[in-house]
Order: sequence, then C-alpha cells, then structure tokens
Amino acid sequence: MVYNVTLIPGDGIGPEVVEATVSVLESTGLKFVWDRQETIGAAAVEEYGTPLPEMVLDSVRRNKVALKGPVTTPVGKGFKSVNVGLRQRLDLFANVRPCLTLPGIKTPFENVDLIIFRENTEGLYSGIENFDERLEIADTISRITRTGCRRIIEFAFDYARRTGRQKITLVHKANILKQAGAMFLDIGREVAARYPEIEVNDRIIDNMSMQLVMYPERYDCIVTTNLFGDILSDLCAGLVGGLGVVAGANIGSEYAIFEAVHGSAPDIAGQNKANPTALIRTGEMMLRHLGEHAIADVVASELVSVYQEGRTLTADVGGTSSTDEFAAYLSDRISSRVASLKA
Ligand code: NAI
Ligand code: MG
Repeated sequence: MVYNVTLIPGDGIGPEVVEATVSVLESTGLKFVWDRQETIGAAAVEEYGTPLPEMVLDSVRRNKVALKGPVTTPVGKGFKSVNVGLRQRLDLFANVRPCLTLPGIKTPFENVDLIIFRENTEGLYSGIENFDERLEIADTISRITRTGCRRIIEFAFDYARRTGRQKITLVHKANILKQAGAMFLDIGREVAARYPEIEVNDRIIDNMSMQLVMYPERYDCIVTTNLFGDILSDLCAGLVGGLGVVAGANIGSEYAIFEAVHGSAPDIAGQNKANPTALIRTGEMMLRHLGEHAIADVVASELVSVYQEGRTLTADVGGTSSTDEFAAYLSDRISSRVASLKA
C-alpha cells in the first residue's frame, strides 16, 4: 500500500515542522508519495498573482488527503487567508482539535482530554466585509446556515459515538445573538435527542472560557461556531503546554487537510527551534484517517515515552533540543518499535 498525500510545507516554521513530521511518518515503514505544493501564500502572489493557486486545490482534490504546515496571513491588510480559502473551497466543514495532556510538561492540570469541533466554513470567517469610506463604518457579516450548524453538530455527535466519548458541550452566545446563537443551540438540542447515550449541556462562550481555565476536567467534547472555536482552541492549547503540542484536522465529506492549530510563528522561524509535536500528532490523526490505527498507536505511545523521559524536548516545553534532534530521536524509537513488532 502506498499513500498519495499532498504536502504543503507553508512558510515560517512550516517547512521545519513539516520535514520533521515527514521523517517521523516515514520511520513507521509506511510508504508515502508526497505531492509537494510549495507555492502558496506570499510566495504564490509573487509567482502567480494569487495566494492560492488552482494547482494546490487540484492536488488535494486528486489525493483527497493533505498534510499542511501553516501559511502566514498579513494582518490588517493584503490577501485573504489561504488557510480559510482552502477550508471554504474544499468544503472542509469540520475542524477537529484534540487537546490531550502529555507527561512531563509543566502545566496547571494533569489530565486534560478535550476535543474541540469548530465549524470551519461560515460565521465571522465568511469573508463578507465592507468599509464605507464616507461614513467610516466597517461591517462584517457573520452568516451561519442551518445546514452548516447541523453538519458540524452531527459530525461531533457521530465522532463521540464512534469513539466512545461521553459528553458534548454546545458553546454559543444565544443570550445576545438571538438569531444565530439561538439557531445553533436549537439545532444542537434537536441533534442531541438522537444520541441519548451522550450527555449534553451548553455554555455561553464567555463563561465557557472561564470554566476551561478553571475546570477543564469537567469537559469532554465541545462543538461551536467558527470564531469561538478558533479562540477556544488556542485557549485549550494553553492548558496542555501550548501551541507546539496541539493537533488539528480539517475534514469534509470528500477531502481532508491535516494541519496543527498553530500558525507560522515568525518569532522563531528558521531557527530549528519549533516544536514539531503538534504536526506529528496531526500526522497521527492522518494515519487514523487512512485506517492505519496500529501504526498511529505506535507513534502516539512513542511520543508519550519521549515526553516521559523528558531528555529530548524543544524549548517551548522546557527542553534544549532542536526540531531536528527531537524528530530524529522520535523516529529512531518508532522504527525500532515497528521492527520489534514485526519480529
Ligand atoms: P502562532 O501560532 O504562529 O504563534 C503564537 C505563539 O506560539 C508564538 O510565540 C510562537 O512562537 C508559538 N508557537 C506556535 N507554534 C509553535 C511551535 N510549533 N513550537 C513552538 N512554539 C510555537 O500565531 P500568530 O503569531 O498569531 O500568527 C502568526 C501567523 O500565522 C499569522 O500570519 C497568522 O495568520 C498565521 N496563522 C496561520 C494558521 C494556519 O496556517 N492554519 C493558523 C494560525 C495562524
Ligand atoms: Mg487560530
């Protein structure tokens, strides 16, 4: 079996963590053919006059699966996010972000195990904006649809049922957003009625933020709209050691793009310092998506062992190793483990 996967290194720390993750995935002995799509974002604007060239989209359509590094979006000016563009153009409506404690990282909590399901194509990210020069009024339309709410909520419930998770919290702002918030919450309750084995509750977003930094152990799965999910994912990353360790996946009914929660981290780019753990865990999610559960288990458990030992870690989690050293050490462990399983 050979897996054809689109590989988007991205920019900033992207190429560093992507190469590290490729080496780890290849250390499993599985065979991948990487369809490299290097020209995206600012580099693509220079070369093709667009940040998101059609050939990148075509590659994902062809291979159905992509592994992606972050791509920088200019702040307050310039081109629209290609990360959002990919999700919208390929209809990757479910952004799945597990936040799972790793041993040996100093955090206030010991056993965080949360999954955020973020709607990935609508809401404040719809891109419907207008600026009235004369009146100096900026409008942003946050549009959500019944279909969009239903499919992300159903996705979360199906996922919970399939993986034996027990609780789902619907996160909203229905006290203030009496149309959009209420619609999301109503659909949530409707869908929940079909999953009697799953406990359901709801929280208003601001209270949810407080709850998560005080009592993360009370929560299991969280399903919410696009912007709330974006913000809560970085918050939850902070509960388990930061953006260097949390994975993510963008899933649609036809295609899937696997990318970590973090961005291009310009402050540490090009220094061989970035933590590739987030993208390696993302790669583990990709392996499960491809049906390679046994190999994914090996990657997950060797990763935990490396953290338990605590000798080969990157700076963001208190170590002194480089991106490459971390990846090489983990890869060695994985290949010996796979060899011993085969023997
Ligand atoms: P960021 O996630 O790039 O960085 C936030 C902080 O976390 C920085 O201090 C950074 O050094 C640290 N960090 C992030 N990933 C790390 C890793 N793997 N190892 C160690 N430390 C890590 O967020 P920021 O600075 O807000 O955004 C930078 C750029 O990334 C922006 O242009 C933004 O639009 C873009 N971005 C792209 C995303 C994507 O491609 N999916 C997602 C989020 C942001
Ligand atoms: Mg974000």
